[in-house]
Amino acid sequence: MAKEPLRVLVTGAAGQIGYALVPMIARGVMLGPDQPVILHMLDIAPAAEALNGVKMELVDAAFPLLKGVVATTDAVEACTGVNVAVMVGGFPRKEGMERKDVMSKNVSIYKSQASALEKHAAANCKVLVVANPANTNALILKEFAPSIPEKNITCLTRLDHNRALGQISERLNVQVSDVKNVIIWGNHSSTQYPDVNHATVKTSAGEKPVRQLVANDEWLNGEFITTVQQRGAAIIKARKLSSALSAASSACDHIRDWVLGTPEGTWVSMGVYSDGSYNVPAGLIYSFPVTCKNGEWSIVQGLPIDEFSRKKLDLTAQELSEEKALAYSCLS
Ligand code: NAD
Ligand code: LMR
Repeated sequence: MAKEPLRVLVTGAAGQIGYALVPMIARGVMLGPDQPVILHMLDIAPAAEALNGVKMELVDAAFPLLKGVVATTDAVEACTGVNVAVMVGGFPRKEGMERKDVMSKNVSIYKSQASALEKHAAANCKVLVVANPANTNALILKEFAPSIPEKNITCLTRLDHNRALGQISERLNVQVSDVKNVIIWGNHSSTQYPDVNHATVKTSAGEKPVRQLVANDEWLNGEFITTVQQRGAAIIKARKLSSALSAASSACDHIRDWVLGTPEGTWVSMGVYSDGSYNVPAGLIYSFPVTCKNGEWSIVQGLPIDEFSRKKLDLTAQELSEEKALAYSCLS
């Protein structure tokens, strides 16, 4: 029997990630090749005409799984009945703006969109925040949507996770699909800690630790980490625009694994509400290794953390605590 369509909200849908993301969703990349979808696209008034153009292209592409498109500048209409919400819209940093000014704009956007989602989304709506500062925007959304279970509010660090897989695959000249269990800890920022201590590669002689195969701790503890941490900035430098296709693809990976489950023996990285695991302060949205089953994520427990890693986990937590304080100061 054909499945009922799921409603997927994309905010900032007239922007560049939105333009890459909506066709992926309409093709079944996010929710599966047998799952019909209705796309809800939200943007702001100055982008309304461009948003309508995206809607026209979605119609023209004649995606068999796409059962409807709502394109609107009204947050209530956009949020009504949605099962999945991908929050890409936000206020970018402009020349001459202080960090606090950008934070203040985004805090007010995420506060009002939180209320619209809380009041109008479907029960058990899953939320993924992509817009930067992604972890802190997600935290504000959680604070102002208290009736949405905190487990349903996440942020995107899967792009960083995929970047780490890509770097290892290039270094070892192996298929990226044979590399697994890297971890991104912390903030989607340059303080994130890409950790390969538990990562493995599938070889003809079984699974081997990445550390053993790379056999170069200096590279793994140095250039590898900074390359992943700085990849977003490197793409902005090269494209004069921030990453879009990789961000859109990773957003699909995040939701797909969350809804449909992670493969046996594999974990992924997601920004989730910290419960104090690994001595990360509770009450931050922090990226952890997670496995997903039956539509729920759980933090992978019990991984040994060495002294080098501990410092890096703490440093990125410290930055998130500072962002949280800054965000709260914008509320008062
Ligand atoms: P963009 O500027 O091309 O698009 C953003 C869109 O959001 C615009 O169309 C804008 O009109 C819209 N918008 C602004 N305020 C809005 C509001 N209140 N409601 C709805 N829509 C609103 O930017 P982009 O390149 O698509 O990037 C979007 C965001 O994603 C940025 O914050 C970027 O830094 C972030 N990003 C995050 C990751 C990640 O891995 N977490 C990766 C890449 C980019
Ligand atoms: C990325 O990681 O590509 C982006 O978050 C960079 C940015 O600042 O938009």
